[in-house]
Amino acid sequence: MKTHTLLMPLDMHLHLRDGVMLENIAPLTAYSFSGAIIMPNLVPPVTSLKDVKAYKERIMAAVPNDYFEPYMTIFYKNYDKAFLESVADEITAIKLYPAGITTNSEDGVSSFDIEKMRPTLEAMSALEIPLCVHGETDGFVMDREAEFMSVYESLATSFPNLKIIMEHITTKAAVEMLDKHDNLYATITVHHLLLTLDDVIGGMMMPHNFCKPIAKRPEDLDALLNIALKAHPKVMFGSDSAPHPKDKKESSGCAAGVFTAPIALQLLCEIFDQYNKLDNLQTFVSDNAQSIYRICPEFKEIILENRPFVVPDNYSGVIPMYAKETIGWAIENVE
Ligand code: NCD
Ligand code: ZN
Repeated sequence: MKTHTLLMPLDMHLHLRDGVMLENIAPLTAYSFSGAIIMPNLVPPVTSLKDVKAYKERIMAAVPNDYFEPYMTIFYKNYDKAFLESVADEITAIKLYPAGITTNSEDGVSSFDIEKMRPTLEAMSALEIPLCVHGETDGFVMDREAEFMSVYESLATSFPNLKIIMEHITTKAAVEMLDKHDNLYATITVHHLLLTLDDVIGGMMMPHNFCKPIAKRPEDLDALLNIALKAHPKVMFGSDSAPHPKDKKESSGCAAGVFTAPIALQLLCEIFDQYNKLDNLQTFVSDNAQSIYRICPEFKEIILENRPFVVPDNYSGVIPMYAKETIGWAIENVE
């Protein structure tokens, strides 16, 4: 049987939540990934040294062993330099959300006035703290990411020493930005390598495929696939796995977020294998992130097998993408 081995996979964009959800969900990622960038959009968001330390401890208490590194983030505000110095050793990045654009982002940024942000972003540049950005405007839903490109341009040119990560990109427009600015990078989810808007609302409405940013057009999917499959050095895997309880998804007013953490590596193998690019998967799922973030994860070896795997119908009450469907790869062993 065909197998494929991955070393130290990293998920560079992950939602773990808190409380019972954290306890149920964190072990699923800790099983097959060496580490993950942990998003700070709790309620209330993670904004202080005390918060971030305590959240990291709760994550470590929830995972069954020490072979998993939560790379912590705080929620962007116009912080001063003294605060950033005090928190720098505890965090790997800062995550910026436009106010109200997605789940738990109400306390985000409401104005992208570069001069107001300058002290914080200059301090982050000096301290080498990367800025992760949820790049969407409040425009028409299909245009939000493309409209945000002008904000990325002004951030990238105003702060040339700041590493800016365009999170979960979904458009050809975002892919094209990568080669325009040295300091722009991107994460790509697995669901955005599989879905278009048709898979969300083209037939029956599929709440478990609904997330922000929404899946776009076929030509956007092609651009994402093209850059991911060649493991362009500025792109990293970030699942944006975002668990919500079943009743928050299967409801009028469905919460945004696709839950993929326990099936992400299997799906990535399937996609890369389908295009005969399995040799590039290691770079996409770990090596690029190690160089971009300058991190050195704990050793972990994941062996995947090319055999049918039926995705469970739920994980502790959270419905994954492709629930009950059969996918082509399974995890065989983790060491
Ligand atoms: C995320 C969540 O549920 O926290 N939802 C989503 O649709 N991706 C937030 C986010 O990353 O936008
Ligand atoms: Zn997210």
